[in-house]
Amino acid sequence: MPQRYSLAAIILHWAIAALLAFQIAVGWALEHLGARGFALFQLHKSVGMTVLALTLARIAVRYWKPRPAKLEGGWQGALASAVHVGLYAFMLGAPLTGWALVSTAKVKVPTLIFGVLPLPHLPLPAGTHAVSEGAHGLLAWIGIALVLLHVAGALRHHLLIRDGLIWRMVPGRSMALLIALPALILGGFVAGRAILPAPQAAPTATPTVEEPENAVEPGNLAEAANAAAPAENAAANATQAVTEAPVAPPPAWAVQPGGRIGFAVGNDGETISGSFARWTAAIVMDPNHPDSADIRVTIDMASASVGDAYKDGMLPGDEFLGVAAHPTATFIAKGAEATGPNAYRTRGTLTLKGVSKPQTIRFSLSGKDATRTVSGSATIARAAFDVGNGDSSGGLTPQVALTFNFKAMRKD
Ligand code: HEM
Ligand code: HEM
Repeated sequence: MPQRYSLAAIILHWAIAALLAFQIAVGWALEHLGARGFALFQLHKSVGMTVLALTLARIAVRYWKPRPAKLEGGWQGALASAVHVGLYAFMLGAPLTGWALVSTAKVKVPTLIFGVLPLPHLPLPAGTHAVSEGAHGLLAWIGIALVLLHVAGALRHHLLIRDGLIWRMVPGRSMALLIALPALILGGFVAGRAILPAPQAAPTATPTVEEPENAVEPGNLAEAANAAAPAENAAANATQAVTEAPVAPPPAWAVQPGGRIGFAVGNDGETISGSFARWTAAIVMDPNHPDSADIRVTIDMASASVGDAYKDGMLPGDEFLGVAAHPTATFIAKGAEATGPNAYRTRGTLTLKGVSKPQTIRFSLSGKDATRTVSGSATIARAAFDVGNGDSSGGLTPQVALTFNFKAMRKD
């Protein structure tokens, strides 16, 4: 009988322990990360599958290389063995339930292990999703409890019984290794916390205000109006311009914090709705002369969220918003036309995921003088922008409804 575990068993024991600590640190944060968590979901799944592979290797090593004989019989020995069985169940169960929950999710996110190896989805019924998700979270706690028992046992042998058992899991009688190897577990947890993105400063929409780059000069008004106004309104606009030509440049408006740009799309009979947390708008417009409008909205695509960590993890990917290559979307319009009292329509250019297309937006204004409330909507044909082009998009309706409302203050 050998004095200690084989080097392979020892390396696997500590490597798996450190990776499990890393997994728990990252796993606990996944739910709260929203759209920013996409890469971390992929990393968590990649490291998790690595743990599964290492655990299978460790079980193989257990049969291939003889272990040292049990040091203790009686109920303590039985308890130690039972805890070991539990630890193996945790090491196998955590990755398997993770794999199962990903495979049975309503929205199927493809997994590329470390960006290279595609992970197939397990052929499990969708009804098992809730169970596997519950078990996945619970197993982490069961694992933590078992490890605490396991470490208490190891310390009991080391400090009370002093039978040198702990050295069986250390390659050589080196005090430095005895400290360094368990410290790897702490290191795994700290590394998992360290790579999490910093918490978002403000969870509510906080639009900041940009200066309009090219506010319409009064002299260019007619040109702007002609470019944007449709034929049927051109005459009316022309008369208006003649009878009450604006003497001052059209006012610029500052968007106030607390506004919202939301979106909604149907998916297999349910509605997925969400919003963009970060966007800016530079607006120049005289409500009495809508043809003077100069509107420029920039949306941070990475700030899209539907309030569900799982779906949010998919939004930035190439199937949907392609955030890495196209971090922002813009809407630029010059000139608007009145469609009713305080109601307007503008045709501008929407650039989304690198594609620029004409886009109509309707909005209405309420309030007067220096403060207005703006609310409006647009219908976006998502296919034209290549949004929702993959396996998980089959149930999505072709139109995405965009709505917005915010307060604007006139800048003096
Ligand atoms: C190796 C061991 C693993 C451990 C210790 C682990 C641990 C965790 C923990 C503690 C959570 C948070 C659960 C909660 O707060 O409810 C979590 C979440 C998650 N894990 Fe793992 N995980 C492992 C492997 C995997 C694998 C292999 C996958 C997929 C292939 C996976 C996919 C996920 C997903 C998608 C979530 C978010 C679940 C949700 O939306 O509730 N995990 N994991
Ligand atoms: C500071 C933390 C840890 C210490 C000090 C420690 C120590 C030890 C020692 C001394 C043994 C050998 C027991 C014997 O010879 O009878 C052992 C075995 C084992 N440890 Fe750990 N361990 C730690 C963490 C972990 C973690 C986190 C896991 C897995 C989640 C784990 C899983 C196991 C398993 C499954 C065995 C049984 C190996 C076998 O005989 O098949 N240990 N550990």
